[in-house]
Amino acid sequence: MRMRKKKHGAERIEACAHLLITPNEEIKADLQSAFVEKRPIHLEIGCGKGNFAVGMAAQHHDVNFIAMEKIADVACLALEKAERAKDERCDNLRFIIGDAKNLVEYFPEHSIDCIYLNFSDPWPKAGHAKRRLTYHTFLEIYKTLLKEGGLLRLKTDNEGLFDFSLEEFEAFGLKFEFVTRDLHNSEMNEGNVMTEYEKNFSDKGQPIYSAHVRF
Ligand SMILES: C[S@@+](CC[C@H](N)C(=O)[O-])C[C@H]1O[C@@H](n2cnc3c(N)ncnc32)[C@H](O)[C@@H]1O
Repeated sequence: MRMRKKKHGAERIEACAHLLITPNEEIKADLQSAFVEKRPIHLEIGCGKGNFAVGMAAQHHDVNFIAMEKIADVACLALEKAERAKDERCDNLRFIIGDAKNLVEYFPEHSIDCIYLNFSDPWPKAGHAKRRLTYHTFLEIYKTLLKEGGLLRLKTDNEGLFDFSLEEFEAFGLKFEFVTRDLHNSEMNEGNVMTEYEKNFSDKGQPIYSAHVRF
């Protein structure tokens, strides 16, 4: 997702600072301290403009959501979307600007119940496989962060990334709970919250691939 630098980006992010998690010792010791109430924590990595995180937080008040995005200007749009959508129950959504490769430095071990990877960059060149968010070094990070038996949920339009991910999951010994090559015509479509990319691809008639695997 290429973006022009946002005018007044820093000020706009600062205006939503109450929704932002800043990595610090308190967060590293207790991730629930980012929220008003203690609830299971779900993390979306690469949230883009935030449609999924905002929609999920509105739909599941019994879950605390964290949406992570590495590009500050993109995170700014997600933060502003959450701010616009805010009702009195929107105390269950927080954002973090950062790179997934540093997650173990930010969050406590075994503090997260579920991780979502939605339309992650496919990095199609073989030489870039290590950058894919389902490469086994990332799975190691997720294993450290997830609680025992935690869930990883993947959605993508990219068949190459999907097939690669299934191989990585299998080699890592993860338990497959759900696999489809057409999410929108599957039993998991009920309650599915679409991301920005998902809406674009499905509007063009492309199928959505999805898998849920348990650690
Ligand atoms: C293709 S976009 C998809 C955005 C959104 N999930 C959607 O489906 O509409 C991928 C997003 O992931 C972010 N991203 C990629 N690698 C990341 C990483 N290592 N850590 C955090 N965010 C990342 C990118 O900046 C980009 O905004």
